[in-house]
Amino acid sequence: MKFFIDTADIAEIRDLAATGLVDGVTTNPSLIAKTGKDFIATVKEIASIVPGPVSAEVTATDFPTMLKEGQKLAKIARNITVKVPLTPDGLKTCKALSDSGTMVNVTLCFSAAQAILAAKAGASFISPFVGRLDDIATDGMQLIEDIVTIYAQYPAIKTEVLVASVRHPVHVVDAARMGAHVATLPPNVLRQMFQHPLTDKGLAAFLADWKKTGQSILGAEDGAAKAAE
Ligand code: G3P
Repeated sequence: MKFFIDTADIAEIRDLAATGLVDGVTTNPSLIAKTGKDFIATVKEIASIVPGPVSAEVTATDFPTMLKEGQKLAKIARNITVKVPLTPDGLKTCKALSDSGTMVNVTLCFSAAQAILAAKAGASFISPFVGRLDDIATDGMQLIEDIVTIYAQYPAIKTEVLVASVRHPVHVVDAARMGAHVATLPPNVLRQMFQHPLTDKGLAAFLADWKKTGQSILGAEDGAAKAAE
């Protein structure tokens, strides 16, 4: 399963990319607005930090302008994925861009019917928003299960299921269980995934016992090297 991070915060991206666990980045107009920085410059910098797909979203709503915006965004870097909303004009843009070899992430997906359309339009990624469905008392993860099952019926579908609007590690574990290809994680969720109190407790006990031995692993290496001289 691939992990993208769902942020436009450069410092967060640099920090998390250093873990070696980040396969891509997703941004949206709200995340860009939160940074207060220039959109194109920010996306360009992100694409230079993370070699995998970096989603940059169009903001027009009519096909001709969406296409022009998408073509401009695609030129920023070879790893840019153009993000379009799941509307008729958005899917028309998706088809035109994917036919010309540009990766497209179709966003704001809330139903299996919409996901079928996105696959037919040649999307590289479909982004179902699980958290926002949970927010309205609808099971977001059920939608992931449905889309994964439907896509699996058709080997010709190359669209990857990108679980978005993730709110906590259980969403990620459930998505992995269902075989979703990608989850895009807010930075705090990726950090939460490392945590377990028994890991902290166990490590503290190991370190306390190790201290009692008076030994040092690197010190032992130095000693062995000296003995061999
Ligand atoms: O990738 C889409 C995601 O950013 C939406 O998340 O938390 O605003 O529903 P949220």
